[in-house]
Amino acid sequence: MALTPEDVPVATVSDGSRVVPLESGSTHSLTSEKDMIKTLLHECLQAKEFAYCPYSKFRVGAALMTNEGNIFVGCNVENACYNLGVCAERTAIQKAISEGHMNFRAIAIASDLEDQFISPCGACRQVMREFGTEWDVFLSRPDGSYLKMTVDELLPMSFGPDDLRKKKVFRVHNGC
Ligand code: THU
Repeated sequence: MALTPEDVPVATVSDGSRVVPLESGSTHSLTSEKDMIKTLLHECLQAKEFAYCPYSKFRVGAALMTNEGNIFVGCNVENACYNLGVCAERTAIQKAISEGHMNFRAIAIASDLEDQFISPCGACRQVMREFGTEWDVFLSRPDGSYLKMTVDELLPMSFGPDDLRKKKVFRVHNGC
């Protein structure tokens, strides 16, 4: 099943992610920004189709691209025990991390909201932030329009892994 626009060639690899080929001659960058956005917007719309949301009836899809060009998609997965539901963004991020990918370039999010760009919840912003503050989040609408923001813009003055290593006034000696 073709999940990306025809003019953006994509290969499926063994870990289940899809890879957008590197631009020739490029050492660190990958696809052009334009192709990346087009691909991610398409992929998150497709991912939304698999949303499991019998309780909220609110479908969300996410598509995450790594710095290497791998794409991981996710949808929201709800549960009869309501608080166990997982958002689309976190599904995609957990899929990527569990396959050994943790350098993220961008994530795109889709919902069925007609007039509004879907905005990630606070928990998802914090999980994104775990993997850096300067990568892109595309908040989309069903018509394909989008807002481009960074993780830092969505979660300013955030708490992250580095904060745990900073100088403290008290040292805990109970084995922590
Ligand atoms: N949801 C997401 O998956 N991502 C968002 O950015 C916002 C909310 C899900 C969680 C829940 O399954 C449903 O949407 C309603 O909150």
